[in-house]
Amino acid sequence: MTHKLLLLAGDGIGPEIMAEVKALIDWMNAEGIGSFECEDGLVGGAAYDAEGVAVSDATMDKALASDAVLFGAVGGPKWDGVPYEVRPEAGLLRLRKDLGLFANLRPAICYPALADASSLKRDVVEGLDVLIVRELTGGVYFGEPKEIKDLGNGQKRAIDTQIYDTYEIERIVRVACDLARTRQKRVTSMEKRNVMKSGLLWNEVATRIAGEYPDITLDHVLADAGGMQLVRWPKQFDVIVTDNLFGDMLSDVAAMLTGSLGMLPSASLGAPDQATGRRKAMYEPVHGSAPDIAGTEVANPIAMFASFGMALRYSFGMISEADKLDQAIADVLDEGLRTRDILPRGGGNGLTEVGTKGMGQAIRER
Ligand code: NAI
Ligand code: MG
Repeated sequence: MTHKLLLLAGDGIGPEIMAEVKALIDWMNAEGIGSFECEDGLVGGAAYDAEGVAVSDATMDKALASDAVLFGAVGGPKWDGVPYEVRPEAGLLRLRKDLGLFANLRPAICYPALADASSLKRDVVEGLDVLIVRELTGGVYFGEPKEIKDLGNGQKRAIDTQIYDTYEIERIVRVACDLARTRQKRVTSMEKRNVMKSGLLWNEVATRIAGEYPDITLDHVLADAGGMQLVRWPKQFDVIVTDNLFGDMLSDVAAMLTGSLGMLPSASLGAPDQATGRRKAMYEPVHGSAPDIAGTEVANPIAMFASFGMALRYSFGMISEADKLDQAIADVLDEGLRTRDILPRGGGNGLTEVGTKGMGQAIRER
């Protein structure tokens, strides 16, 4: 089966790190390891400069027709003054919205070679592999009413509304259970049922949906206690599923367990296609366009490689290939190769500094 990939490199270091992954895809095609049909598109500032919008209708059509979108990063000081509706970030938001990407996946993986860069002790994080599944399109960030009211007595009232409907919880818990099947088959649902109605419904629906997966073990943990456990002993978790607000916080906390921003991939998934069962999907590094280092060939391409690895794993079912890519990343780190962002200040014993291309080449060779 041929997999259709739309490559949206974007701005800043986006094109530099995307080129390294594109070279891997070309090699895989040449070797007959999967079959990928790649198309390039413009997004962000690059699209604004060429087409006057952050993502054009034509590019959106290509995204909708693709099996997965690989996204680099968008933005930069060059576009600080452009109108709000066409600012680079608007391209990302439109892609998420029009593709219906309601599930945000953020793995926290700690490569043994980088365990000392974590904010926690080595034995707590070494070998860590947790996947946080965050609901992305509902909850308190979007619920109405959402306003600041003037109460007229020198007081104001700020109102945010947390709303979750059954179907929104059902579909995110299904994503978590589907993903757990490709991992250790354990899901931990986090909410605050002790003080929130949405937590009560979340808990009830999660229990029912997980019941459809006899091979999956589901646990419930209150989100505050979950945050504590995440920094106390994160290796107890496999897949964590949680709402938009708690997921935002817990995934940022988990990110700090792993070391560096240049290492973190992410995926956003939508509903399964009626005919093929395949979910709409976009894969991207967590970091931005890093304008401070763009054009200097020092950007770390690992988050982009690992994002492609997630596409192999979660969109294309190429689990052993994804494992090999993850292993290649771990191997080059074990061998001491470092881009500048993961090089300890003042260098380090047995470590070799490489640029974007050097790191890309080394990963492809492994
Ligand atoms: P950033 O993530 O681009 O950079 C933060 C710091 O991390 C910088 O010092 C940068 O050099 C470094 N860094 C980031 N990725 C790196 C990599 N792969 N290798 C080595 N070093 C790396 O965040 P910042 O500076 O806040 O934002 C820059 C621009 O990116 C802004 O226009 C922002 O709006 C945009 N942005 C875009 C995102 C996206 O496209 N998904 C996400 C976050 C920010
Ligand atoms: Mg956040």
